[in-house]
Amino acid sequence: MSHPSSHCKDSRNGLAGVTAGHTSICSLDKTLRYRGYAVTDLLECSFEEVAYLLLWSDLPTENQLREFATRLHKSAQSLPETVVSCFERLAQISPQCSIMDVLRTGVSILGQLECDNGPEESHHKRDLSQERMKAEQLLGQVPALLGTWIDCISGRQPIPWPKKPLATALLEKLCHTRISDNAANIFTKTLVLYAEHEFNASTFAARTVTSTGSDMHSAIAAAIGTLKGPLHGGANEKVLQQLIDIGTPENVEPWVARQLENKEVIMGFGHRIYKSGDIRAILLHEAGHQLDDNSASFEPHRKLEKLAHKVEAVMLEQKNLRPNLDWPAARIYHALGLPIKLFTPLFVVARMSGWTSHIIEQMSDNQLIRPVAKYIGPSPRKFIALADR
Ligand code: COA
Repeated sequence: MSHPSSHCKDSRNGLAGVTAGHTSICSLDKTLRYRGYAVTDLLECSFEEVAYLLLWSDLPTENQLREFATRLHKSAQSLPETVVSCFERLAQISPQCSIMDVLRTGVSILGQLECDNGPEESHHKRDLSQERMKAEQLLGQVPALLGTWIDCISGRQPIPWPKKPLATALLEKLCHTRISDNAANIFTKTLVLYAEHEFNASTFAARTVTSTGSDMHSAIAAAIGTLKGPLHGGANEKVLQQLIDIGTPENVEPWVARQLENKEVIMGFGHRIYKSGDIRAILLHEAGHQLDDNSASFEPHRKLEKLAHKVEAVMLEQKNLRPNLDWPAARIYHALGLPIKLFTPLFVVARMSGWTSHIIEQMSDNQLIRPVAKYIGPSPRKFIALADR
């Protein structure tokens, strides 16, 4: 099966088009599929249903889903006290820090408390049941880390995790109010679309860490650090900042021209794999329309939508580039009332399902990931002792 961008084989070009391993979790050929199911169908599912599919390789029955959701809820509800008190202290010292750092630190503390030293080695085959339990635990704990941090920096006493579907519980915790079914539904779609995407940079980082025989918490910490970068997950926060900076439709053309002249990338456009449009951006753009309730209070968001469409038209005309998933996701999160600093951490919550599935897949058939580099440095030269230099 040829990869959409397999024509590009220049290893200096960020491994673009290089097939770096096998996976049965996600495919991008023709359309995006998780474990063989098209994301267009999965958009009707709860986040738990999709996370179960990724982790356990098939869609759950009603019973399996109920039990899975209960296990996730229990993990979200029982963050170790050490993590909570650590967050309370950190919130006093560095309340302005990146929440991506908070999540990375939180996962690191959880790993230390678990004494996670990686999968148990048996003579014949690795027993990965413990690793799946760790994965499920982390799926519940990471959104709870996010909710707890927000409580801490808001000066609120951390409250118990609500017994609701994960997406609804998280959104209510972050917005600190009850939310409509419509809002929960659209928020869920963002999580489903962010859940998994093959060998992207953070997933590859997680697999590389795992390939050394290291533990799941270390692999997730590396993945969070990788996702933080603006060329990857960090783009969704920059997208909204850009729209705020542009301000009005008249500013779009001069703003884009300036960025391009300065060789700055426009966040939310372009993709390493999708060269003629990101299916996730198209699907989420359509879903986003459902947020407009025709009320006067939605008017600022309608203006932002118009501004975004103008940017899309200019980017298509000038660079032949189309939006990626972060472009509509940022506007949806903004319309849901979420602060910008939460956008990339929400990507983490969703991608936990993809990362943990890839970590387990890597563990189940492991080989050390260790590519080679083409040397382009100085040719062999004579060593000169320090005193003679
Ligand atoms: N804004 C402006 N120019 C862009 C661009 C963007 N968002 N994305 C790509 N380009 C330009 C490149 O600079 C390059 O121009 P050149 O040929 O004149 O040098 C050309 O388009 C081809 O880009 P390409 O090398 O194929 O992209 P890539 O595969 O190396 O990079 C991204 C992919 C995602 C890193 C890149 O598109 C980008 O930086 N996008 C913005 C960040 C973003 O939204 N990230 C989230 C991804 S889901």
